[in-house]
Amino acid sequence: MENCKLTVDADGILLVEIDVPGQPMNVLAPEVFEELSAAIGQATDDARIKGVILTSAKPGVFTAGADIKTMVSSFDTGMTELQGMAISQHLSRMMRRLETCGKPFACAMNGLTLGGGLETALACHYRVLADDAMVGLPEVTIGLLPGAGGTQRLSRVVGIEKALPMLLTGQQVKAADALKMGLVHAVVPASEVVAKARAWLLGTPSAVQPWDVKGYQIPGGAGPCSPTAFRSFVAGTARIAQSTQRNYPAPLAILSSVYEGTQVTIDVGLRIESKYFGKLFADPVARNMMRTLFIAKGAAGKLTRRPSEIEKSTVRKVGILGAGMMGAGIAQLSAAAGIEVVLLDASIEQAQRGKEYSVQLAEKLVTRGSLTPDKSQALLARIHPTVDYANLADCDLIIEAVFEDRAVKAEVTRKAAAVLPASALFATNTSTLPITGLAEAFPRPKDFIGLHFFSPADKMPLVEVILGKHTSKMSLARALDFVAQVRKTPIVVNDSPGFFTSRVFSTFIHEAVLMLREGVAPALIENAARQAGFPVGPLAVGDEVSLALQIRIIEQNLADGMPRTAHLDRVLEVLRRMVDNFGRSGRRGGGGYYEYPTDGKKHLWTELQTHFPPLAVQPDVQEVKDRLLYSQALESARCLEQGVVEHPQDADLGSVLGIGFPSWTGGSVSFIDTIGLPVFVANCERLAAAHGERFRPTAGLKRRAELNHRFHATENL
Ligand code: NAI
Repeated sequence: MENCKLTVDADGILLVEIDVPGQPMNVLAPEVFEELSAAIGQATDDARIKGVILTSAKPGVFTAGADIKTMVSSFDTGMTELQGMAISQHLSRMMRRLETCGKPFACAMNGLTLGGGLETALACHYRVLADDAMVGLPEVTIGLLPGAGGTQRLSRVVGIEKALPMLLTGQQVKAADALKMGLVHAVVPASEVVAKARAWLLGTPSAVQPWDVKGYQIPGGAGPCSPTAFRSFVAGTARIAQSTQRNYPAPLAILSSVYEGTQVTIDVGLRIESKYFGKLFADPVARNMMRTLFIAKGAAGKLTRRPSEIEKSTVRKVGILGAGMMGAGIAQLSAAAGIEVVLLDASIEQAQRGKEYSVQLAEKLVTRGSLTPDKSQALLARIHPTVDYANLADCDLIIEAVFEDRAVKAEVTRKAAAVLPASALFATNTSTLPITGLAEAFPRPKDFIGLHFFSPADKMPLVEVILGKHTSKMSLARALDFVAQVRKTPIVVNDSPGFFTSRVFSTFIHEAVLMLREGVAPALIENAARQAGFPVGPLAVGDEVSLALQIRIIEQNLADGMPRTAHLDRVLEVLRRMVDNFGRSGRRGGGGYYEYPTDGKKHLWTELQTHFPPLAVQPDVQEVKDRLLYSQALESARCLEQGVVEHPQDADLGSVLGIGFPSWTGGSVSFIDTIGLPVFVANCERLAAAHGERFRPTAGLKRRAELNHRFHATENL
């Protein structure tokens, strides 16, 4: 066998060691399961075999779950619900053979055990886990449910109440907690798991699962009459419907699978699970989430856009110019990655205030027990607030995060350049100003690049790396190395006003402003956005960004050559009315579209209705959702056609991880694929006729629609 090594010892114990060749982790591709199936057959048929130990030959990992690449490509080749169901049934039959073959199976989990690996363990009669290992069923995070018996066996092993949080969040559980909840029988050091399993087999092992014994009851009860049914299922359904807005089918399918499947025998329960698995597997949401959140994110994290011929670099000391909101966050994430930080601002008080962000965060983490006092002190000692440019003299990298103002940026860039070593890379965190122009203030434009972090910088996972006209390959490689060093996900984009994310995001905010002007009820705009899956409504976001800043950005972009359009003029008119006539510049200015009472929750400004009278007949909520989703998807397609982003994966990652485009879509380009090019283009034409030229599909989209060519299709076939 290629993936599993089988040995039988003198006691008749068959040791099955999973060791998928050429991979750091054991990924469970279909052929690995086939080999496991053959091992079960051998154990069943060979009378000399008294019991079986399943383990892994890879240190620290039992299994990392199923092979997601195979799953995505099977979707793109046209997986049906029935075919998806058949995959799950095939695995379930194998697990059922394992637990009913009459031979005792012990699973020795020597490390991380996820997905299909944990489902296999749950089918074993005995489970021992390494004390430093984590276990989990992360399928929900990629739009699926555990389809190899996970929903059924976990509920039967630990009870429904404890199983649901694991199934619904995908969160991993530490070994000690797994033992406490009864998920495993024993926890020992990794080096002893096989010996522990062997000892169990050599004792008086049972080869019968509790659920195969007559009169078996699920711990804590099952079905509508169990004491926890209301909390788990009735309230649970409402809670999930609210949090997912029914855009993500997996959590409700998991709930249904557990509810229905635990009231019947395990065999029927497994069939129920397979039915739901098939539905999810054939649903584009699972494919979209897997492709973007797993495959594209994984590839970006491995720096696939990095010029490979350039040697890897490490930043030892970073200089941050501007200790405001962004500078403080970047200082925090750099110090947390072990990098020395010089945090410079115009006054020492401002520089220190930037460090204060890390001080407060560290205090919180220490109180919570997630950071030791020693580590906290070491982290804080790495951040050096200053006003003196001479302190930048030995920095490998500068990140400029002063006001979004060309003159201010040019001034600090020149001052830093005067003291920097010739080897230093200079990055700007500008969110809107073209990089090539800003690079003029730096003597070595080839060493100048954009590193666009998102707010709050230490928490948001994405960094948009922006290439100026003269940025060298070396600078790109070094910038990407830094992004990896601080454990963020990069996308690489080319210079243009607003780059990719800010440009796409502005269409979201602008569309809401235009709807407000037309008389669409503000509450309808905000609620439709949340129903579509955006984390925050566009008017609320507009308040956060500040209306005054939006005016400045539009004016700046127009001055930088962005074409002037009728709809931009209308957006500007609304923003100016809000700021100049009504004094409402956004949250920081005391209020914008919303009121922010000090003693209560924010709420929409009641006067909005007076100034923007609502239409007597309001549009359908779907129309509002479409306008918000389509405007961003179209802008993403334009960015691809204009070469601002070069790969659909970058657009998808940028939109989901950077600007909150709903992840059920897989991202703003994946959204177009999901709808299908011909339908998307037809809908754009309809929206253009109803609302204006900004919805007119591009020539490239029309061509794709005629050929029915998806953006992602060819790469995955
Ligand atoms: P901020 O206003 O919070 O901070 C700017 C800091 O720069 C202030 O502490 C200020 O004292 C300092 N500063 C200004 N002039 C200076 C000078 N001559 N010398 C030294 N320090 C000086 O602004 P924020 O929000 O941190 O933004 C900074 C940059 O990051 C801007 O370019 C902005 O466009 C960009 N950005 C902002 C995001 C956001 O969500 N706020 C997101 C991504 C990028």
